[in-house]
Amino acid sequence: PQQFRLLCLPGDGIGPEVIQAALGVLQAIAPALDRPVEITHDLAGGACYEAHGVFLRDETMELARQSDAILFGAEGGPGWDNLNIPGGPTARSGLSRLRKELDLFANLRPVRSWPLPAEQTPFRPELVSGADLLVFRENTSGIYFGEPRGIFEHGDRRHAIDTQYYAQGEIDRAAQLAFAVAADRRGKVTSVDKANVMETGELWRERVDVIHRTHWPQVELDHLYADACLFELVRAPCRFDVILADNLFGDLLSDCAAAIAGSLGMLPSASLGPERADGTRAALYEPVHGSAPDIAGKGIANPAAAILSVGMMLDLSLGRKDLAARVENAVDNVLAEGQLTRDLGGSATTNDFANSVVAKL
Ligand code: NAD
Ligand code: IPM
Ligand code: MN
Repeated sequence: PQQFRLLCLPGDGIGPEVIQAALGVLQAIAPALDRPVEITHDLAGGACYEAHGVFLRDETMELARQSDAILFGAEGGPGWDNLNIPGGPTARSGLSRLRKELDLFANLRPVRSWPLPAEQTPFRPELVSGADLLVFRENTSGIYFGEPRGIFEHGDRRHAIDTQYYAQGEIDRAAQLAFAVAADRRGKVTSVDKANVMETGELWRERVDVIHRTHWPQVELDHLYADACLFELVRAPCRFDVILADNLFGDLLSDCAAAIAGSLGMLPSASLGPERADGTRAALYEPVHGSAPDIAGKGIANPAAAILSVGMMLDLSLGRKDLAARVENAVDNVLAEGQLTRDLGGSATTNDFANSVVAKL
């Protein structure tokens, strides 16, 4: 059987800690796969900048193109976030470069409630219990990449520009896949925009409606303004199935939704490219959280998001929903037994948690 080539980019801060834990889980489940997994490691983010002066090397980009999937930890930190490096977002962030150059336009961020002590989320238990939603974030356009952008000097006056840009085709392909994802879940999409104030929002809403009418009439669709959606997310999270949002709104909505899951350390993600002729897609899996400099190096980060990202890889890149479910159930059981990392009010270390998950597999 053909080997599965995985490029592992642990990155910065807690990235290497949670990725090591996630690889332990992958190693434990690998015998159940019918393909051998070959793992290559490389630097990304600040770690790469210190060694090579760039946040991602061309060689790494080439490795990424030749891989079946990428497992990414986290990147960034106080020393690297504001270096004002020329060349736009892909020069400033290895992750942005990977997303853009691999055309990983679809960022799937599932969020659910977990068996946690009631006081571990800011919500009443009956409000979040059963919540199970997915933020589908457009990942390669919008204000993250629009031109013109920059900080400009006019004598002693400086100004800064970012551009919120969407091409029709970029909205269409995100909507298509979001409806497909919803059709596999509970069949409901809530599309988010600011069509009341933004031109991109107007086009967004129009195209989502067209794609819905033309291809996915069986999926239920509603629209919410982004501000109202954030309110609804904390007021009644159980009403959502798939939330379709642009790059920036999706970023904000998913961190907010992490409060429903109990911690940023509980949110995995998959970033997918367009379907290729052989039916596969370029894919990058990573926790939604960042490098968490405040707790890095202590071995106390919650590895669940990274572990669940491996689960998403088993499902989406290896076609093994059964194994993905096994990983998710193991995480669920470990939490239910009260084995909790510090972000969830417990005292389990990263390795304690990962070892318990492996034991449950
Ligand atoms: P963050 O997600 O790193 O941390 C926010 C808070 O959540 C911190 O208090 C942190 O300790 C906590 N937290 C996050 N993940 C956790 C985990 N797994 N277990 C326990 N606690 C966890 O966001 P930030 O502080 O805004 O950003 C820190 C750095 O990470 C910045 O450089 C930022 O640019 C970068 N960042 C990277 C990514 C990424 O690589 N995908 C995502 C977000 C932020
Ligand atoms: C995320 C992060 C990134 C983003 C940063 C690190 C570029 O916040 O993956 O959610 O804003 O997309
Ligand atoms: Mn984010």
